[in-house]
Amino acid sequence: AKGAAMVTAVAYRLTEQARQIQQTMEEFRLSKEQLLEVKKRMRVEIERGLKKSSHEEATVKMLPTFVRRTPDGTENGDFLALDLGGTNFRVLLVKIRSGKKRSVEMHNKIYAIPIEVMQGTGEELFDHIVHCISDFLDYMGMKSARLPLGFTFSFPCHQTSLDAGILVTWTKGFKATDCEGENVVELLRDAIKRKEEFELDVVAIVNDTVGTMMTCAYEEPNCEVGLIAGTGSNACYMEEAKNIEIVEGNEGRMCVNMEWGAFGDNGCLDDIRTTYDQSVDENSLNEGKQRFEKMCSGMYLGEIVRQILLDLTKRGFLFRGQISEALKTRGIFETKFLSQIESDRLALLQVRAILQQLGLDSTCDDSIIVKEVCGTVSRRAAQICGAGMAAVVDKIRENRSLEHLDITVGVDGTLYKLHPHFSRIFHQTLI
Ligand code: GLC
Repeated sequence: AKGAAMVTAVAYRLTEQARQIQQTMEEFRLSKEQLLEVKKRMRVEIERGLKKSSHEEATVKMLPTFVRRTPDGTENGDFLALDLGGTNFRVLLVKIRSGKKRSVEMHNKIYAIPIEVMQGTGEELFDHIVHCISDFLDYMGMKSARLPLGFTFSFPCHQTSLDAGILVTWTKGFKATDCEGENVVELLRDAIKRKEEFELDVVAIVNDTVGTMMTCAYEEPNCEVGLIAGTGSNACYMEEAKNIEIVEGNEGRMCVNMEWGAFGDNGCLDDIRTTYDQSVDENSLNEGKQRFEKMCSGMYLGEIVRQILLDLTKRGFLFRGQISEALKTRGIFETKFLSQIESDRLALLQVRAILQQLGLDSTCDDSIIVKEVCGTVSRRAAQICGAGMAAVVDKIRENRSLEHLDITVGVDGTLYKLHPHFSRIFHQTLI
């Protein structure tokens, strides 16, 4: 009888532990009503960003891009392109041919941007960029050609024309000094002049969402929305010019860079944010900012997971209650690891092997819990992203006074492309 009582006690402890773990995850499981609420609030913030009277204090900035249409196939020529602000910094040479035989040929090289440069002075950052362009031009044997250059710069910029962009604020992992409030096109031009090695015409600065929409629209004219689910999270779409009150002119449409990562910075998502979201925010370079992005993009999902694991370990439910150095390390769970851990084809032993690689000694039970935590966090991310997109598509449908709208969304980003479930859950939420 004593043995039986002990067994019951152990079983009780186990179920109580399982219950507490489930309770922790419950905070991340959003109901349909909650998701509809997210969509509704996104719509409110969209309107605030667009209206002149509220634009100043709006958190979702709805920045005009001065892109008034998507490509139509008549584009022609050789161009240089820079891509700064995602997982990789790239320099590209793009050769576009129009006419009967349309073609696009691309050559690109990826360059590292060391943390010291990302977080050093603006001059160092732009000198480094120009150094990479110089290397690329040598590599392509094109140093002497004065090419037009398009700058994909994946940060919020105040634009007054296609080729001017004042950096509103750094986001994600960047914080180079003396750039905020400056026209980054000029910073680039100045750095090119300092180098005195080659000439370029910087003709456009675009957000990555806009670049993604335009690239997709080249093949698919129905594409009028762009989405990035990667290191950061953001969207753009073709808005009616008359609705963008801070820009003169009422004719036609213009693409707006929503900067929806800042959704929630006024507290409007506080009821669904958890204590783990708050810890991630407090540990970040930009506390209080980009709260939506911190709930749904690659740079932060792993950090949310880590905060939950830390807490579960402190409460004795994981890793035998031992907090390892690895678990205390910021940024250990990159998108690629989350994607691996959540892959259905992976046996639990392999999950343990990945955790081992990250310096985490796990039992079989631990690995089950870790996998479930990852799944819960990434599911919420995909769902709120879907809810945000639903608000955008609804807005466009209403703009055009339609019952039903067929539209294509161009999507890019490591989370969307690498994660085994994100895209599916995003789609399911959207319909
Ligand atoms: C951040 C940037 C935004 C960019 C997004 C995706 O949210 O502020 O400009 O589009 O990341 O890279």
